[in-house]
Amino acid sequence: MELFPVFFGTKSLNVVVFGGGENARRKVRLLAKTHARVDVIAPVFSPEFVNEFAGRVGFAPEALTEVLVSEAKFVIIAIEDDEPALEAALNLVRQYNLPVNVVDRPELCDFTVPSILDRGSVVGAIATGGAAPVMARNIRSRLEALLPKRTGDLANFARGFRGKVKARFAEESDRRAFWENMLRGPIAEKVLAGDEGAARVEMDAAIEAGKTEKTGIVHIVGAGPGDLELLTLKALRVLQDADIVFYDNLVGADILDLIRRDADRVSVGKSKGYHSVPQEDIHELLIMAAKAGKRVVRLKGGDPFIFGRGGEELGALLAEGIEAQVVPGISSALGCAASAGLPLTHRDHAQSVTFVTGHARNGRVPDLDWPSLARQNQTVVVYMGVGTSAQISENLIAAGRGASTPVAVIENGTRENEIRAYGKLSELACLIEGNGIKGPALLIIGEVAALPELFLSSMQKSLEIVE
Ligand SMILES: C[S@@+](CC[C@H](N)C(=O)[O-])C[C@H]1O[C@@H](n2cnc3c(N)ncnc32)[C@H](O)[C@@H]1O
Repeated sequence: MELFPVFFGTKSLNVVVFGGGENARRKVRLLAKTHARVDVIAPVFSPEFVNEFAGRVGFAPEALTEVLVSEAKFVIIAIEDDEPALEAALNLVRQYNLPVNVVDRPELCDFTVPSILDRGSVVGAIATGGAAPVMARNIRSRLEALLPKRTGDLANFARGFRGKVKARFAEESDRRAFWENMLRGPIAEKVLAGDEGAARVEMDAAIEAGKTEKTGIVHIVGAGPGDLELLTLKALRVLQDADIVFYDNLVGADILDLIRRDADRVSVGKSKGYHSVPQEDIHELLIMAAKAGKRVVRLKGGDPFIFGRGGEELGALLAEGIEAQVVPGISSALGCAASAGLPLTHRDHAQSVTFVTGHARNGRVPDLDWPSLARQNQTVVVYMGVGTSAQISENLIAAGRGASTPVAVIENGTRENEIRAYGKLSELACLIEGNGIKGPALLIIGEVAALPELFLSSMQKSLEIVE
């Protein structure tokens, strides 16, 4: 290990920064987030620098240099374009034997300022010893994406209960088991969701009961329409933290690859016309896993609450008193629309958008309100409508929608094998058959379905003009 990270408590820490330029300002911006007393020394400061930290940081005249340095714990020298001034500052700091960082001069540094991961009282430091600072920043961003915003709140919350936990659990092993369960279980999730009041009540009850066994939790998670990058940060976090994941057919292999290696994966693969695990059995599996104290993820394509039976699963879990949270996903309508450049609403063409299912329990087209769906200036998005598309177009036209209304059919939207087909409402079934579309696919009906081709032709025209 070339570098050794240490963390200074900042409550009674004095730091001196030399320099009035941008480099100094960047370092002061980091220090200003701490409790430290920060004094900046320079012959002149820009008004922007002073305004940014007014009242928080001392802007000291050079006459005070020696006094301030003598009181400091460490010093940062960020003097730009003035070598004699830099050397003078460095000599003074060396006289006091203080650790010093000289910005952009690694050979003069006793310490480096790492890339800082800041989650309140949880702080991480990433450094590459000056080899590749950009890499340190990239690593920090990736870690930040995995750590919930309220991680620091959770640490503070735990700190507030340390005394009570110590008093309740005499054995060190019981204390550790309690903390491990608490920091991964429903109480922690409540704190991370911003509900500290409820978390506090549950924490008191768990301490009182001397509870050391695990409490299960189920996250019903939307995996989005297919593209891995459309997964939310929260979905990624709970997926990587799960003990067991129950997933649907619509979830792609690259998303499943994000699951922790030692977690169990169970396919409850529902696909069109084939329910490999009946819905009630899925409820039972989720309930049993949660009751065994596991962190359970129920992973579904798109969004769990849009034609995803997320409501049924949530109801079944809550009825058993199991802690359950829903993590939304990007529904396929939104993913497909974005991927095709097809705005679902548009001021000139569609003032509303309606999501309907094209598939009733009996496999036929559902009993929808066709006259209202046939009204102009709206977009109708049909999920699971490939098999019933002929009936859907017939019903809409019979209810008054124009036969030439534009339609788009998008299969495997946002995935590498995405297919898009454009045509008219009267030709919907032929369009699907002609393009060999089997699903998963969405039918998008309304004037907006003509916009991708319109956008494309106007772009081609403008390119011709440029040529
Ligand atoms: C049971 S529903 C689930 C919908 C999902 N909960 C959502 O929010 O997208 C399955 C239907 O969603 C649509 N679908 C899901 N993923 C899709 C994709 N990548 N491209 C097109 N349609 C998709 C299809 O209509 C498919 O038949």
